[in-house]
Amino acid sequence: MKTKILMVCLGNICRSPLAEGILKSKLDPNYFFVDSAGTGDWHVNQAPDPRSITIAKKHGLDISEQRGRQFRTSDFKDFDHIFVMDNSNLKDLLLLTKNKEEREKVKLILNALFENENVDVPDPYYGNEDDFNHIFKLLDEACTVLSEKLSN
Ligand code: 4NP
Repeated sequence: MKTKILMVCLGNICRSPLAEGILKSKLDPNYFFVDSAGTGDWHVNQAPDPRSITIAKKHGLDISEQRGRQFRTSDFKDFDHIFVMDNSNLKDLLLLTKNKEEREKVKLILNALFENENVDVPDPYYGNEDDFNHIFKLLDEACTVLSEKLSN
């Protein structure tokens, strides 16, 4: 059975599609399944934000085939690890959990880099290219650490 990892943000068009594409590129697809979802439903079935597609492409990753979907409570059962981008996503998901097992699956992705610091991946939706470069770098570093932890 593959280990299943879900990346979650608000819209599932900027941050979590990048996190999905980056982590996928660092893990063996024979052993891992990586997906992403948004807490909101505004961008269901939409492709990632063009700025996320562009920054991914610059780093050799194609995320253009991804399509947005909303987080569903069955994801707590279907995934082994759920990484959220910010504290607001964390609060939204914890409100939907039913037990300790579900709560323990949900983690802030940047705690992989900055342990217990509860740092956000800033929402770049109203930002510029620099903001997308910044989140790419943060997610790439976090996913390197996660891929090493998960593969051991
Ligand atoms: P994301 O960014 O959560 O990183 O996908 C956002 C995308 C869309 C919206 C907010 C954040 N929105 O309000 O539509």
